Amino acid sequence: MRKNILTVLLALSTQLMAQNLECPTHVYSLPGKPFMHKLVTDEGHRVNAVKGLPACMKLDVTTRDYAFIHGTAPVAPGTYTYTAIIDQYTPQEKEVQCTLEVRAKLPQPTPFMGLLTWNAFQNNINQEVVTKLAESLVSLGLKDVGYDHMCIDDQWAAAERTNGRLIPDTQKFPSFNKLTDHVHKLGLKIGIYSDAAERTCSEAMPGSWQYEETDAKDFVKWGFDLLKYDYCGAPAEADSALFRYSKMSAALKKAVKEVGKDPDDFLFYMCEWGDRSPWLWAAESGASCWRATADTRDYWSDTMYKGGIIQSIDRFKRIWAYQGVNRWNDADMLVVGLHGTGYSSNDGGGDGYQAGLTQDEAQTNFALWCMWSSPLILSNNITNLDGKLNNLTKKEVINTFWKEDLEIITNKELIAIDQDPLGQGAEPIIDTEHSIAFAKDLSNGDVALSITNLSSDMLTLEIPLSNIPGISEAHTYEIRDLIRHIDLPALKGTENIKSDTLQAHQTQVFRLHKK
Ligand code: GLA
Repeated sequence: MRKNILTVLLALSTQLMAQNLECPTHVYSLPGKPFMHKLVTDEGHRVNAVKGLPACMKLDVTTRDYAFIHGTAPVAPGTYTYTAIIDQYTPQEKEVQCTLEVRAKLPQPTPFMGLLTWNAFQNNINQEVVTKLAESLVSLGLKDVGYDHMCIDDQWAAAERTNGRLIPDTQKFPSFNKLTDHVHKLGLKIGIYSDAAERTCSEAMPGSWQYEETDAKDFVKWGFDLLKYDYCGAPAEADSALFRYSKMSAALKKAVKEVGKDPDDFLFYMCEWGDRSPWLWAAESGASCWRATADTRDYWSDTMYKGGIIQSIDRFKRIWAYQGVNRWNDADMLVVGLHGTGYSSNDGGGDGYQAGLTQDEAQTNFALWCMWSSPLILSNNITNLDGKLNNLTKKEVINTFWKEDLEIITNKELIAIDQDPLGQGAEPIIDTEHSIAFAKDLSNGDVALSITNLSSDMLTLEIPLSNIPGISEAHTYEIRDLIRHIDLPALKGTENIKSDTLQAHQTQVFRLHKK
């Protein structure tokens, strides 16, 4: 245990020493895959050289306002290191070592996709509900476009442990093994939830602190493939969080190995809401994704709980460079399809907005999560498509899910942006009171561009293509609108790209392909 503590604290101090680099120093790749590592620095500094790069990668210091490494990852699995040399640093240059882990298999080469029960069901979960949700993922074609994790959130367990064991509330879940078996037969994976303290966030059930090995064994024995691990009731400091998450991660790996399975097939999903800057240290705990925001609320803006779409934009425009293969910052559940009918997703001030997004805002919710390479986690009740068409009472309205919502969340062209194997975040290239535009490098050399109208008025935006990182004035680009699914006239790198007239809070996404 002592060695474990030292390793964990060393990881944290290494991250803190990497100050001046505002990007990860520990990155991952599958062998021989397209690779990009943006060496973004804080203001006044710049990476001008890198020592020890594998031959299949090179450094570009000229075409952007930060240096970046690109090429392909080595084909031989192993741990590679290279050293970024940060310039303009007094009294002398500073060297920061980066580690690239090339592994034949990674738990999360692309951000996971699925559904979590919390927003729509909260305490009202049970075996039947979870079964129906899983079956709907299949019957609605959601599994076919990538939503393959059915995840149970808080409030599944009995209020207290029995003989030191966390046990399911048998009124709700008579048999986890039957449930996980059924979900697996549908071709899906299934997730469970706990917390790194004595009680979970609802306080209705125990958490796993000091019971990590026992609980991990049970989660695996019951047939689960993912653990969402929350942080309510745990100590505030980042080193405690890293320690507690590392402890559960190690316990899960051990438990999975003990049943003869591959630990890389189990997803460990951290949830400390971005409060301790997990993008700096969470990968060292063994997690491959972590929440980077407060709980999403079903509002355009919610300053009270920092859970509106606006607050997520504010977070992701700052941490974009920390996104990467197998190290995903999660923007939390999508609220598409809730229409103001969720539980805690409706709490909060809403800054004068009604709970429930407009369809334009819901489209923005989905499009930006894809631009950012966030996990895509549905949170609405997908079992009652077209609830809108029935005459629902206010109470029943929790079942509302519209065809238009289904269209938004199954947009394959946007999902491809989210799941792009280069694993880049989207960089803010325009950021004003009225609009924000993000650009994202894709594995085939294409660039995705989103333009969002942040104002309550209609707005048209024009951006010189030359302002977009990765676009060259010397070339012509084919332009595809990924929401209307149409090709637009090609543009020279010297020309401007113009949005449609965007409604309040609407987003348009383009894919730019060099001719
Ligand atoms: C926290 C998490 C939510 C959800 C609830 C459950 O608030 O951030 O996503 O899991 O706990 O109580």
